[in-house]
Amino acid sequence: MKVRIPSGTAFLGISLIAAIAACSGATTQTVDATVCSSKTQWIGGDEESEEMHPGRDCIDCHSRQDGPGFQFAGTVFPKSSENNDCFGTANAVVEITGSDGKTISLTTNAAGNFHSNSSVAKPYTAKLLIGGKVVGEMGSAQTNGSCNSCHAQTPIGGAPGRISSN
Ligand code: HEC
Ligand code: HEC
Repeated sequence: MKVRIPSGTAFLGISLIAAIAACSGATTQTVDATVCSSKTQWIGGDEESEEMHPGRDCIDCHSRQDGPGFQFAGTVFPKSSENNDCFGTANAVVEITGSDGKTISLTTNAAGNFHSNSSVAKPYTAKLLIGGKVVGEMGSAQTNGSCNSCHAQTPIGGAPGRISSN
């Protein structure tokens, strides 16, 4: 006869530890600079936060999983190549200009994330400013407001990598 209780107990123990860790409120951890230039990584899963999942496609996931609807959202990073869930550059400014000439300025938070419910007429262009200076400019006009959909871990649509200062 097989005794199943010990393995079941061990499994329960591991589950409890995981549950306690999840409840302790840590949504980030410190990692090596080879993993994230910022050395900070999001580990909060889908817990609602404006610092969640830096680098991932915000609007796509929100539309599938009942997250808030945004017109524009994305992440600014220190380098053009960065893993998903790495914290990016705080206090950078993304300036989005619509085909109607209307401009929206968004400042990145501690995760490098930015998002907005305001819209401009599409297609739009975008600029990246750091310390008040323009360090990057998207010449091609876009219609999808989810910046990380192209500026992805594996860049899509000819994007040069992450929205970044170099
Ligand atoms: C893998 C899925 C997923 C990704 C990727 C994702 N989110 Fe979310 N987000 C969610 C879900 C689900 C919620 C709603 C959670 C809830 O209601 O408990 C949410 C909620 C939020 C909220 C509301 C928080 C609040 O306090 O009201 C903000 C802000 C947010 N996300 C920003 C972002 C940004 C910015 C990005 C991209 C850099 C992003 N999210 C990427 C799933 C995601
Ligand atoms: C459909 C794909 C796509 C989307 C969505 C997109 N981009 Fe881009 N982005 C590109 C491509 C392609 C380039 C390179 C060609 C160019 O500069 O136009 C680029 C370049 C850039 C650059 C210049 C990069 C550099 O190295 O100087 C910035 C800044 C930028 N994008 C910001 C944004 C922002 C902010 C958003 C969201 C509001 C966004 N992009 C959404 C495709 C996209």
